[in-house]
Amino acid sequence: MYSEKVMDHFNHPRNVGELEQPSGVGTVGNAKCGDIMRIYLDIDDAGVIREAKFKTFGCGAAVATSSMATELVKGKTVREALQVTNQAVMEALDGLPPAKVHCSLLAEEAIHAALWDYAEKNGIQIEGLKKPVTDIEEKEEAEEY
Ligand code: FES
Repeated sequence: MYSEKVMDHFNHPRNVGELEQPSGVGTVGNAKCGDIMRIYLDIDDAGVIREAKFKTFGCGAAVATSSMATELVKGKTVREALQVTNQAVMEALDGLPPAKVHCSLLAEEAIHAALWDYAEKNGIQIEGLKKPVTDIEEKEEAEEY
């Protein structure tokens, strides 16, 4: 039921860990399942993401999607990183079972939260970046109604 790519990123997750002096850190949780995701980004003076790491207290799908998401944002500008949606991550992983789609939102939201933190620390605005939620359940519910 899981694609080979999902299994590969689950068994050999890339970019696990933390950065000592990150440019931005974002943490989000999903109260429904209790899972938590934290993403660390290192962004250079030109606004390019040089390094991305994640730590999660999350399920296998959360591990695989965060592994892929951190791979995809590395080398991108902060604006380009906004295009790395959970949809894009799922496509890169050859799909996820429908019941696991919400898990992929953790990575997207944690990246946005880390970018928001970076923007706040540097007194800049990133066009198209909305203030992140700390619990993605709020967002899921907002989308349902
Ligand atoms: Fe919570 Fe997957 S079940 S992130």
